[in-house]
Amino acid sequence: MWQEAELPAGFRLDFRESTGSTNDDVREAARTGASAGLVVVAERQQAGRGRRGAAWICPPGEGLAFSVLLRPSEPKSLWPRLSLAAGLAVAEGLDRHGVAAEVKWPNDVWIGGKKIAGILVEAGEDFVTVGIGINVGVTNFPEMLAASATSLALECGDAPELPLVLASVLERLPVWEAKIGADFDELLRRFRERCALTGKQIRLTCADGVLAGEAAGIGDGGELLIRTPEGIRRIVQAEEIRLAE
Ligand code: BTN
Repeated sequence: MWQEAELPAGFRLDFRESTGSTNDDVREAARTGASAGLVVVAERQQAGRGRRGAAWICPPGEGLAFSVLLRPSEPKSLWPRLSLAAGLAVAEGLDRHGVAAEVKWPNDVWIGGKKIAGILVEAGEDFVTVGIGINVGVTNFPEMLAASATSLALECGDAPELPLVLASVLERLPVWEAKIGADFDELLRRFRERCALTGKQIRLTCADGVLAGEAAGIGDGGELLIRTPEGIRRIVQAEEIRLAE
């Protein structure tokens, strides 16, 4: 399946049946001089990881796990915006397979309030690794995830081939990567249109502790706005954000 995979121009595939974490593979390649556009895809990850140190586990063949090497030309201070860019790219890529995906700030992708994809962006000295895990053919989630996770197979009744899903996401990634600088307004506009949290009651943990309130949108710097009884707070970094029950 992967031998014949066709990637959009500018990307090259390194497929591995088994690895620790594709993010680590890309980081190693970057440190030894690999150029932007390297895509490491793994059938199995022994140590796949998510944000906040969580494990990322997906049955082989049913999940798409890959990492992309970027060497952004924009100043490093703008690289955090790549989280939003990657979220949009995944949401738009998934839409091509017949769903209506939303972005959950900063960079999960949801359908109908359930997570279909997670993104782990890690910056090195002169490169960025964008790691993406997408539930494609998963139909049986472990009990603890069943209420909060979904997949293309569950949403569409059919799972597209993994290389097709990969290509759809990669087609959109350079579009949004190019907009973390001068065209950030456009990126923000599209992110706001797809934001799953806006208008919802949420609870999050940040440096100041637990905050609860209404998600009031995305600020001009890409931060999450939350309306609390004390007023609007601007959240740049947060631990798990949940919809309030
Ligand atoms: C999250 O939801 O917290 C982010 C999950 C990111 C998982 C992907 S799978 C490919 C890449 N390699 C990893 O070890 N993690 C990312």
